Amino acid sequence: MTSPSVFEQILDPARRADPYPLFDELRRTPVARQADGTYVVSTYREIVALLHDPRISSDRRNLAAAPPPGEQDRTVSFIGLDPPEHDRLRRLTMRHFGPPHSPGLIDGLRPEMLAVTTRLIDGIAGKRQADIVDEVAYPLPVAMICRVLGVPEEDEAQFHDWADQIIETLGPGEEDRVERERLRQEKALELQRYLGGLAEVRRGQPGEDLLSGLVTYHGPDGTMAPEEVVATAVLLLIAGHETTINLIANGMLTFLRNPDLLERLRADPGLIIPAVEELLRYEPPVQLVSSRIALADITIAGTTIPAGSPIVLALAAGSRDPAHLPEPGRFELDRPRNEHLGFGGGVHYCFGAPLARLEAQIVLSELIRRLRNPRLVTDPPPYRPSPVLRGPRHLLIDYDGVE
Ligand code: HEM
Repeated sequence: MTSPSVFEQILDPARRADPYPLFDELRRTPVARQADGTYVVSTYREIVALLHDPRISSDRRNLAAAPPPGEQDRTVSFIGLDPPEHDRLRRLTMRHFGPPHSPGLIDGLRPEMLAVTTRLIDGIAGKRQADIVDEVAYPLPVAMICRVLGVPEEDEAQFHDWADQIIETLGPGEEDRVERERLRQEKALELQRYLGGLAEVRRGQPGEDLLSGLVTYHGPDGTMAPEEVVATAVLLLIAGHETTINLIANGMLTFLRNPDLLERLRADPGLIIPAVEELLRYEPPVQLVSSRIALADITIAGTTIPAGSPIVLALAAGSRDPAHLPEPGRFELDRPRNEHLGFGGGVHYCFGAPLARLEAQIVLSELIRRLRNPRLVTDPPPYRPSPVLRGPRHLLIDYDGVE
């Protein structure tokens, strides 16, 4: 038996708590071919070049091997499409989501974000120990995406259940694979039916929300078909859920590991803005982008990736590339230019970045402000197994009360 490649070691859940020495090793071969024909790219310059290269596709229908059954003909959301289809759907969605078309939507959520955060932190006020993942980070992103989409408050609990069940069953693992896939499809169908119904209601009685915008807009890009509206709404829910939870949990973990940093943030709350940016670089919630396919032979860093090959972009390795920035293994609030790959790049650059940044800034600054003497209970905490969306499963902390 051959020993596992560096990339195979990164995929091993046993290495989840600290994969960064492995990412450092991975960068020694900027484009690393794996035994199954996948090419893993790990240096900053090469990742950025590929993120902007029209010869690489996000559409799994371009795989040399046929896509898994059930994926050939389903309506895919724009994260899995290439230009021009991707651009049309992204533009139609962006029009109702944030700047420059509707600058108010995300910033307008600020008071509600703070209100939900306050309620969640009040919920742990009477205790001396809490799980930051389950009790604070977990409920917020779904609540916010419900507000964005215009899900009525009375349906929000059900929406949380769907999100949990779909995301819980998405994770890797061989155990109960068939049963988990069946459950995921069942729940995804329920969610799709619900969103389809809500979109119909909004078509007749539009509100200020994103779903109303998507179903009623006609313009140079045409209109969105009903199944495209549903696929887009599901994408926003899934893409923004675990990612944001992980950013918040990784943030708290990093701050509690560095008491000086925590002190600085407490003394100067405005520093939460560069702190969240540095977290996206230093502990990125999305570590790998594993959905690219070469459409032509592509030569990069001296290696030719043959057409049809799957490509993995190791964002977490690229953001810690010493050829790109000094002392990448240090968490540093004062970086003059923090260009990281936390939100990807190119045409698929994270659509929800302004929402994710604001959520993390508000929750983390409120936790820092309100928790008295917070301490980690276990370090490292237990991690979820996924090598793609990396974050603690639980983050237990002790504290001496809440302001
Ligand atoms: C795309 C990261 C939060 C919606 C991406 C990509 C990354 C990313 C790396 C690029 C994927 C690729 O190139 O294939 C993150 C992180 C988040 C976050 C780290 C939180 C900290 C959100 C939120 C939303 C969202 C809150 C929705 C409201 C999307 C969408 C795409 C995307 C729709 C696809 C964009 C496209 O294909 O044009 N995100 N994301 N994300 N993200 Fe996020």
